[in-house]
Amino acid sequence: MNVTLLAIESSCDETSASILENGIILSNVVASQKVHEQYGGVVPELASRAHLVNIIPVIEEAFNLSRINRKQLNAIAFTAGPGLIGSLMVGSSFAKSLALAWNIRLISVHHMQAHVLANFIVSRDDVKQNTIHKPAFPFLCLTVSGGHTQIVLAADYLDMKIVGETNDDAAGEAFDKTAKLLGLPYPGGPLIDTYAKAGDPKRFSFPEPKVPGLDFSFSGLKTSILYFLRDQVKENPDFIRGNLNDICASVQSRIASILINKLEMAALQFGINEIAIAGGVSANSGLRKEAQLRSEKNNWNLYIPRLEYCTDNAAMIAMVGYYKYIAGDFASLDAAPQARMEW
Ligand code: KG4
Ligand code: ZN
Repeated sequence: MNVTLLAIESSCDETSASILENGIILSNVVASQKVHEQYGGVVPELASRAHLVNIIPVIEEAFNLSRINRKQLNAIAFTAGPGLIGSLMVGSSFAKSLALAWNIRLISVHHMQAHVLANFIVSRDDVKQNTIHKPAFPFLCLTVSGGHTQIVLAADYLDMKIVGETNDDAAGEAFDKTAKLLGLPYPGGPLIDTYAKAGDPKRFSFPEPKVPGLDFSFSGLKTSILYFLRDQVKENPDFIRGNLNDICASVQSRIASILINKLEMAALQFGINEIAIAGGVSANSGLRKEAQLRSEKNNWNLYIPRLEYCTDNAAMIAMVGYYKYIAGDFASLDAAPQARMEW
């Protein structure tokens, strides 16, 4: 079966397009929106407007890099949710219009399933260099992004179940909200990662929440960081500036240990040692290192996508699109995006 598809991702603040041919990613173009930095978070209306501006150049670039002609396409996959509704509407309206105009199949994709399947992305370079490294089923995936924190049990490409998730904030929010308290711009996660590299993770200690089972909670950690900073700044107004690296390293180390402790618990509970990590926070170097250490201790086979496939990208949407195409799971032209979306 020949499958050549265009995938579009627009769930939050990255506009992205990717071309896939028979399971191989030929191009993956991402335009990140800088406009939100000054507001300390994503402004939904500005995100929708920026998607409208970016979407055509991004798709054109994806075609150019892939050297695929639009007449070769037999499907178009788009992120249907979850995400910001205005952002999702730009990508989905665009995908539907192209499917109608070009008379090709339409495939609706769940953004969080796509993060999990980022572990299956194979690029042209991977094929050339023979660097293909994919999890075997069943595997567990810790999916950590700006809006979600989940442990997913994947029985097959399209057969996934959430076995643990956050009761309140997502891990990405814990990073971003801490960064805001430290006076850093949005998104703060990558900045905390950078400062943490020069810091001592044992300098300050923050509590590990006691949440039953495989679920998470990050709101208590956020409050304890808030009170800690407030008390320290009262005594020394220069506390944050003088200790930024150590604060970042200590917070990052606690977030990573909360995540990996639960992942370890899930691995034991299900007796699975095929372990993957995905989502924007999986780009975090502290989390990657902790996962590596724990995988050596537990004999896991560990899979983490390359950095460019951790944060939002259309290549992961293309992967879900590919497996849905093979399964014959197509969307109709009246498909509508959903801000909250069931699996
Ligand atoms: O998956 P993603 O790109 O978008 C969503 O679906 O939410 O994840 C974005 C989140 C943001 O909270 C961002 O701060 C966080 O991922 N992030 C990081 C790093 N890179 C991105 N957090 C910590 N360290 C990083 N290196
Ligand atoms: Zn995402």
